[in-house]
Amino acid sequence: PDLEPYVDELPRPQVLTGEAIDLAARTGSHRFHRDLPTAMTLGYGTAGYLGPTIEAHSGVRTTLTFRNEITAHPHAADIDTSLHGLDESVRTTVPTSLHLHGAVTEPASDGHPEQLSLPGQGHVHHFDNRQDATGLWYHDHAMPITRLNVYGGLAGGYLLRDQWDTGLPDNPLGLPAGEYELPLIMQEKIMNADGSASMRSTPIVPQGHWEGGAVGDVGVVNGKIWPTAEVARGLYRLRMVNAASFSNWILHLSKPLDMWVIGMEGGLMPAPAKVERFRLAPGERADVLVDFSTLEPGETVELLNAEPAAPQAAQIGARRLPNLMRFRATTARGHGGPIPATLRGGALQPAALAPLARPSAVRNVSLSQPSDLRIPPSMMSLNNLRWTTDQIEMPRQGSLEMWNIVNATPDPHPIHIHLVHFRVLGRQAINTLAMAAHHPQPPTGIKWTPDPDPYVVGPVRQPEPWEAGMKDTVIADPNSVTRILIYFPTADELGFDPDATFPAAVTLPGDVAGHGADVAYGDHGGPDPHGAAPGIDRFGGDYIGSIAPPAAHHRSDTLQGYVWHCHILDHEDHDMMLPYRTVT
Ligand code: C2O
Ligand code: CU
Repeated sequence: PDLEPYVDELPRPQVLTGEAIDLAARTGSHRFHRDLPTAMTLGYGTAGYLGPTIEAHSGVRTTLTFRNEITAHPHAADIDTSLHGLDESVRTTVPTSLHLHGAVTEPASDGHPEQLSLPGQGHVHHFDNRQDATGLWYHDHAMPITRLNVYGGLAGGYLLRDQWDTGLPDNPLGLPAGEYELPLIMQEKIMNADGSASMRSTPIVPQGHWEGGAVGDVGVVNGKIWPTAEVARGLYRLRMVNAASFSNWILHLSKPLDMWVIGMEGGLMPAPAKVERFRLAPGERADVLVDFSTLEPGETVELLNAEPAAPQAAQIGARRLPNLMRFRATTARGHGGPIPATLRGGALQPAALAPLARPSAVRNVSLSQPSDLRIPPSMMSLNNLRWTTDQIEMPRQGSLEMWNIVNATPDPHPIHIHLVHFRVLGRQAINTLAMAAHHPQPPTGIKWTPDPDPYVVGPVRQPEPWEAGMKDTVIADPNSVTRILIYFPTADELGFDPDATFPAAVTLPGDVAGHGADVAYGDHGGPDPHGAAPGIDRFGGDYIGSIAPPAAHHRSDTLQGYVWHCHILDHEDHDMMLPYRTVT
């Protein structure tokens, strides 16, 4: 459909605070645009689409009681039941798993892709929040339908505050706060005339088959298509999440307003970086200041995307996303404070950035994809392995490792590692033909992790100015090696055992699903999961209900550790995701 841009107002998600939060994934309905009918979507809590913004404080534990109350799925027909031993029942009995992306979380609370809750089931997540203030986000992580669950609407923001970055108007850093801070959950969509969003970016692959990416040409922010945010003429803090299925964006404004990136996945940078544009991949977050003070009342400025279509998207004939949203100045004067000269490591906040020290280990990892996605069966992989492999990475706790991410494909892939934060060391092109001649890629299932060093060509590209802090997701550029430095913390430092085992799936007794309806939903939180809330049985420490027999697509009935994966949602589903453990 031909949709008029900028006619809907940017919604502000509801804010949930408190140490106990009750959150259900539900089937909802939602209108994406003024001129479209409402359609079936998924959402958390009372939001028909997406979820509330959870605000938490560094050092204060958040206990999140999660329930699956999904009764129908807007993309049931798109589920590819040939993946991971699914059967037809998955279309009506939809599994979910909740992951808090970027959080330092014990394994049993991390939303492992096989730690699934079926409708009527749930799980208690403990988030210790023992990390610096930053913008996290929570989203579904169910194997292998994450792409459908997140695209359907299962994603929301999570802002972690601390004593410097308080989110309140009198914060010591002087950052715009309150009405001058906007959480932006940004997505790409393919819209149908009936108001629903389509998963189909190409007619080449039949519906119900994994196609490698839902590449949208319509920008959706906080659930509205190309919305307009009314802004006072002053400084704003934009808390951006690229929650798209596939695309990287090079974001820039249509007018030369002053703009600074001040933070990313792991928190604030040492100092603001003044930018005209910056790149944001799925999974990445950007903490951005924009100065709207030079606009006239009523004047508008658009947030645009300059990233060309990825080769994979071009191959399947997908269109690209040109724009995301608009800002329109009101007559009001807004936040006028100066831009802080230092954000972290300065007088106000102790240095928390991991130092660039010599790694104690170097690990080569690889990305691969088929040469032509139009020919099924095709899949993506890490280290040329499948999800079910037992040849996983096992870094030592307490070690500092350099990972050489070897991307021998023609596409960029955003690589995310659970539990840890890392620094980007740089990128360098590799002669992939020479590398392939010496280390030909074997059939999928045989580990392939070539050393890139003999094949590097050209200069080392330093990290971009907006990558100068701690990250949890990094763009691995095509035909390049991307080097990152990762510290794997010890159990003592974490306050939990990162190598603990935990059961794969749980079942709630029937009455507990009903109990969810009685639980008041709001910032005063849900039931105390440690107490004897009526109808809730607790097994295995962190679980509600009884442990279900593992479904066919489970690795096993006990799980361990974390995952690392490409954050292109289709890629992680099949199979660009591997488990990993840290060992002592
Ligand atoms: Cu945002 Cu493993 O995910
Ligand atoms: Cu990928």
